[in-house]
Amino acid sequence: MDERGKVVASGAEEHTPFASPQLGWAEQDPRDWWRACTLAVRRALNDLVAGGDSIGCVGFSGQMHGAVLLDANDEVVRPAIIWCDQRTEAQVEELSALFGRDQLIHLTCNLPLTNFTLTKLLWVRENEPQNWQRVAHVMLPKDYVRFRLTGERAIDMADASGTLLLDVARRAWSSEILSGTGIERQLLPALWESPQVCGRISARGAEATGLKPGTPVVAGAGDQAAGAVGMGIVRPGAVSATIGTSGVVFAATDAPVLDPLGRLHTFCHAIPGRWHVMGVTQAAGLSLRWFRDRFGSGPDDGRDPYERLSEEAATAPAGADGVLWAPYLMGERTPYCDPNARAALVGLSASHTRAHVVRAILEGVAFSLRDTFTILREMSVPVESIRLGGGGARSTLWRQIQADVYGHAVEIVEAEEGAAYGAAILAGVGAENWKSVDEACDVVVRTAREVRPNPKNAALLDRVYQAYRRIYPALRQISNEVSVEAEARPTSVSAL
Ligand code: XUL
Repeated sequence: MDERGKVVASGAEEHTPFASPQLGWAEQDPRDWWRACTLAVRRALNDLVAGGDSIGCVGFSGQMHGAVLLDANDEVVRPAIIWCDQRTEAQVEELSALFGRDQLIHLTCNLPLTNFTLTKLLWVRENEPQNWQRVAHVMLPKDYVRFRLTGERAIDMADASGTLLLDVARRAWSSEILSGTGIERQLLPALWESPQVCGRISARGAEATGLKPGTPVVAGAGDQAAGAVGMGIVRPGAVSATIGTSGVVFAATDAPVLDPLGRLHTFCHAIPGRWHVMGVTQAAGLSLRWFRDRFGSGPDDGRDPYERLSEEAATAPAGADGVLWAPYLMGERTPYCDPNARAALVGLSASHTRAHVVRAILEGVAFSLRDTFTILREMSVPVESIRLGGGGARSTLWRQIQADVYGHAVEIVEAEEGAAYGAAILAGVGAENWKSVDEACDVVVRTAREVRPNPKNAALLDRVYQAYRRIYPALRQISNEVSVEAEARPTSVSAL
């Protein structure tokens, strides 16, 4: 990004899909992120005449909640257990019993969830003692990449919030949680605010990427907080709805606002002195990707498979002629906090087609995000504007479906890079190009277009949403029974 917020070069490299060695497990090799990062950075620098020499500061973002475990020689101890892994139900219960739910909300602003890093640390300690003995350092995914680039062990407040080890209200590691669980503070990285400079590119980092040694790096932020910055979701009233692999509704707040039922997360924002609340759909874009991978996206005509799926879905009417999709492929966080929730296609008849199913998936994901808007209203968190992010903002049909399902106009911002754009804004603030994240967003984030709800479809989808809300309670017991049975059997689950 240049000083005016224009993207001047970019590079990307795919990482290996996550492995799921058992039902509900999700693991990745951190070294693969580093490999992909070095290639992506080199590609981006190739587009710049002055290469790495022209970079004033580097920002970071990445998937949240993962546990990267390193030994005393900084070697990876075991594959990282990542954000959507669901194996730690027993550890969630242990934490609730140890502290009590109210005390956990008091200490961390959040309830324990299978997603949060602490539960993964406890799982490794209990189930793989030989691995746990070797653990000398714990970090989150993007912080491992930073470590390889700079040699610094650092984390920002926003990503640290998703560990359940942070006193979110005070922006410090929680001594009570650390002493209560016996996790040593020295395992954890140093805490920084997102736009703070926390290290410099090392000689080894420079050699691997082409960046200049000594280039400063800022702390950056987890994907949701950085994505929010990239969309200008910085002050109360501004809310985003992002459909990536997961789906997130994110509202900026001036203080740590709590959902007494723990259905939303209350985390630090990537801005000093600000927080946010967010609700998470585990399998948002993942629902569509699952459909594409398992059932195909139609004949290959050289176009993006998601574009073809979107076009197919557009041939079915709003409401998908009564087909409903509950997107609980990886359990669900908001509003149910249930790792054993299971996805469901409801209402099929012999006359329905693939198009109905794809449309139902797009609508079901939007209904799931609407659940968070429903809770925000209950909590009196203001929603003045809604900006869309992620793949869900790129499809014309999914944008319209979101406007109709939320019953509110939605905006699309010009920059499509999401969290990477937010990370670059944070780097620009670290490099003192802007005085604050607010100032940076006011200068660089621009709305490209607004999509208004279609009143007829919005009224129809409002009725369908009421039916959607009854699917989970109706299927809860069955989902629990089948998931417990499936866990008891050896599986042949393949990676996504
Ligand atoms: C947020 C969350 C996701 C992941 C993967 O709580 O789990 O944003 O970081 O995208």
